[in-house]
Amino acid sequence: MNDKLNRFNGAILMTGVTGGLGSALLPRLLRRYPHCEVVALIRGADASEVNARLAEALDFGGLAPAERARVSACRADIGQPRFGLDASVWHALAERTVRVFHLAASVDFGLPLAASRAANVDSTRQVLDFADACLRQGGSDFRLNYVSTAYVAGTRRGRLGENELGCGQGFCNAYEQSKLEAETLVTQARERLPVTIYRPSQIIGETGSGRIRKFFGYYEFVRLAARDKIPLLVVNTAVRPDFVPTDYVCEAMLHLGELPHALGRTYHLTAGLARSPNFGLVFGSMYQELAAWLPPGRVLETPRMLSARELSQRATAQELQRFRRSPVKFLQRTYHSYLEEERDFDCDATQATLAAAGIVLPDIETVLRQSTRYALDARYGRAHAARNVDEVEEPSDAPQIA
Ligand SMILES: NC(=O)c1ccc[n+]([C@@H]2O[C@H](COP(=O)([O-])OP(=O)(O)OC[C@H]3O[C@@H](n4cnc5c(N)ncnc54)[C@H](OP(=O)(O)O)[C@@H]3O)[C@@H](O)[C@H]2O)c1
Repeated sequence: MNDKLNRFNGAILMTGVTGGLGSALLPRLLRRYPHCEVVALIRGADASEVNARLAEALDFGGLAPAERARVSACRADIGQPRFGLDASVWHALAERTVRVFHLAASVDFGLPLAASRAANVDSTRQVLDFADACLRQGGSDFRLNYVSTAYVAGTRRGRLGENELGCGQGFCNAYEQSKLEAETLVTQARERLPVTIYRPSQIIGETGSGRIRKFFGYYEFVRLAARDKIPLLVVNTAVRPDFVPTDYVCEAMLHLGELPHALGRTYHLTAGLARSPNFGLVFGSMYQELAAWLPPGRVLETPRMLSARELSQRATAQELQRFRRSPVKFLQRTYHSYLEEERDFDCDATQATLAAAGIVLPDIETVLRQSTRYALDARYGRAHAARNVDEVEEPSDAPQIA
């Protein structure tokens, strides 16, 4: 396999390079395909903004000059026909593209359905058109890699299979629905296109360092906790949320993306219930990490954790009042379903395939701790962390991107 990749050349088209997953995948892509160039489709007002945005992603990846030289940015809006490119540029790109990695999406849980569809479904339709052109104009070696989400399962419960998609389920938000609709398009295209679909769960930092470029979901709670803005957590402590480290997702995609039998298949890149710590442990270790991070003498109280059902019976009037005034209530609203109910993603076969290639899921609680420390030290993407809760920037009270 490595010998084949060493001889492999052409372009790899990538969307979402400025994102959390994309900026972690890019350096790995360059190393995996040493003779390929990467063309990154990036939004921006003009070429200089696009190049500056690429440079930031490259800086995060810590790339050597020779690796940087193999990446170019193309100003594009992937939601537009032919990505908004001139037809001649689009066709020339398709002719030399041997792999597509489509990661770009809006992961804002608060968007209305029409906006989520425009961001996630329209763009996927454009990527499929491009992939058709790659196959027509390029070689038979072409492959498309599409990043979906495990949460296309929506409100379905029980064992959630990799082969299951639209089962008449409901959705917790428009993001889930639009990603299901996008994945449906990709699934339908499997008959004519060589495609592999990946469904990660909630992505956290890298194993060991906790590094990550974007901070949402779990990190929004860390951010409020560091400000001592969580008087009460409405969460079912027995529920096991599903987290996966960025490096596991990237390595899995790069490995599966070259397996002949992965063509036409869908993979859960998830931890699975057996490997997932419950919310009691997740928030317990988050507060332990915070306590260790704060300067001596600063104490943060771990908030009481009550399920939605327990809230009215067990919370005191004072607790309820503090909760209602706290910005955490917006996060609770956004993530309500994930905090109250667990999802049982079937990932046994995928984990076994990956383990056989040395790609092993690490201990998730350990990576969560590392991710928490990294987020605090990096001040959620801003350099020079403040170690005093009073110095940490006040988050907006509005619901955040998730
Ligand atoms: N993060 C998670 O926990 C998670 C879990 C499961 C699945 N996923 C999936 O993983 C993929 C990557 O997510 P992420 O966490 O990296 O998200 P992210 O950090 O928000 O990055 C999203 C990327 O998509 C780009 N993008 C969005 N719309 C675009 C457009 N019209 N034209 C060009 N680029 C566009 C963004 O560009 P800008 O910088 O210009 O906005 C950014 O690079 C998504 O498909 C997401 O659904 C993520």
